[in-house]
Amino acid sequence: MIETAKAQIDALLADDPPIAVLTGAGCSAESGVPTFRGAEGLWKQYRPEELASPEAFARDPDLVWEWYAWRRERLFPCQPNAAHRIIAAMERRFGDFSLITQNVDGLHQLAGSTDVVELHGNIWRVFDPIGSYDEVVRVATLDEVPPRCPQTGNLLRPGVVWFGEALPPDAIQAADAAMSRFKVLFVVGTSAVVYPAAYFPVIAKRHGAFVVEINPDATSLSEMVDIALPMKAGEALPQLFPDLVTP
Ligand code: OAD
Repeated sequence: MIETAKAQIDALLADDPPIAVLTGAGCSAESGVPTFRGAEGLWKQYRPEELASPEAFARDPDLVWEWYAWRRERLFPCQPNAAHRIIAAMERRFGDFSLITQNVDGLHQLAGSTDVVELHGNIWRVFDPIGSYDEVVRVATLDEVPPRCPQTGNLLRPGVVWFGEALPPDAIQAADAAMSRFKVLFVVGTSAVVYPAAYFPVIAKRHGAFVVEINPDATSLSEMVDIALPMKAGEALPQLFPDLVTP
């Protein structure tokens, strides 16, 4: 199956069309980052509305920050996997390439991707919602939890998009523009249940894009995509792009 898919994809990419990759938590699974849904998923153990919403933060910032501090600590040692590395190499190889991620872990950037549209923010970003403090603090352990602005003492918050919040307008615009323009879309490791990201492949398809899904499990997209590869990202991408494999 992968050989047939590769031949089809190679033919499509031969004249360097605009291409895009949309990633979700599954792309980082092989780096040891927990996904949100599925048997071991974070949302199986925790309730998003108690930990990842503006209301939760207003009600109990200590609890919310403890959860983010725990996630940061867990994420800190995680390294990019083969899928992140191939995607970073795709940016260098293809003339017109967009990477749109729902992941907040920063692993695409660690793998070398330089132009990443982060739909759901970045867990390493810490900012003051009412003041100007806004920093990327990539450390395993924060000095204080919850952290406060060193100048004003204001309570800081994680730079992630919470349930009930709007996505960053520039990220949405960039993703929208990419979806109507590119010819090939790779959808990697997302359950495609969180909007608007889940809708992007549908928009892409409507605009005539060839959509390839890489996910060991079927999703609501699997029926409508052109190729659904039931494989792990770190196994499928190196087989599709063997010349982009780096150690
Ligand atoms: P999910 O946890 O919902 O889905 C992860 C998907 O990855 C599932 O469909 C798995 O089958 C698949 N998967 C698991 N291992 C894989 C592997 N090695 N290779 C490829 N796929 C694999 O994660 P997302 O779709 O990213 O939002 O979730 C979307 C959003 O929901 C997240 O960004 C987060 C969450 O609530 C916010 O926090 C705002």
